Amino acid sequence: MALLEIRGVSKLFEAKGKTVEALRDINLSVGENEFVCLVGPSGCGKTTLLRIIAGLDRPTDGEVLLDGKLIVGPGPLRGMVFQEYSLFPWRTVLDNVAFGLELRGVSKEARLARARSYLKTVGLEAFEASYPHELSGGMKQRVAIVRALVNDPKALLMDEPFGALDAQTRNVMQSELLRIWQEKKKTVVFVTHSMDEAIYLGDRVVIMSARPGMISDIIDIDVARPRNRTSPEVNRYRERILQDLRALRN
Ligand SMILES: Nc1ncnc2c1ncn2[C@@H]1O[C@H](COP(=O)(O)OP(=O)(O)OP(=O)(O)O)[C@@H](O)[C@H]1O
Ligand SMILES: [Mg+2]
Repeated sequence: MALLEIRGVSKLFEAKGKTVEALRDINLSVGENEFVCLVGPSGCGKTTLLRIIAGLDRPTDGEVLLDGKLIVGPGPLRGMVFQEYSLFPWRTVLDNVAFGLELRGVSKEARLARARSYLKTVGLEAFEASYPHELSGGMKQRVAIVRALVNDPKALLMDEPFGALDAQTRNVMQSELLRIWQEKKKTVVFVTHSMDEAIYLGDRVVIMSARPGMISDIIDIDVARPRNRTSPEVNRYRERILQDLRALRN
């Protein structure tokens, strides 16, 4: 069975007397250890769908199951990483990473040891006493990723986590994320505006159409990793996805 089952999910928002249909009948299964990327035009409901999976928002219709269980709220099995660095500015790097463990009542000694070992996996052990404002964008996102991972979630939900980074840092972070994903065996749902990023990272790329957000195509990226960003086969996928997105605009 799939780890994540999205079944007939629709979402309506009521705002200022108007109804916005953000999602319509979304059906998607994501397997254990799978890396799925969601792409689509701005406003097509990507963040909404991710928030529903996270349990931060409820669907108007339909349901989401994780490991066969209905999602009714946030839980430690899902870790979220957002585009905007969502670290606590008043906490040190170490205390940011240890936060989820603290919520779960893990003893101080155990949580700090665990947080330190995770910081080490992204090369930030020397920055444990720093505050977020003392870090670069890429470093902050590394902290945000290990802060999610330290709780050992089954699924990592990422909403344009590298959107604010420069191109070079972004490439480094993509490779680093793939390494962590392979090492820790996570299921990842990754939202991005960049089809290059989607093709570089994903086992599958899910293309959504704009308002109401629907799945318009799902493409298997059948390219061995590590992927070459400019190989002819990668270019063929890019061309196909571009065509899909162009067709959506017409
Ligand atoms: N809390 C809310 N109240 C009212 N409308 C909302 C709310 N959240 C989202 N929407 C609407 O739902 C639609 C989908 O928004 P969403 O943020 O999910 O899009 P998105 O695909 O993530 O866009 P982007 O790529 O720009 O981040 C938009 O029309 C948006 O205005
Ligand atoms: Mg969004």
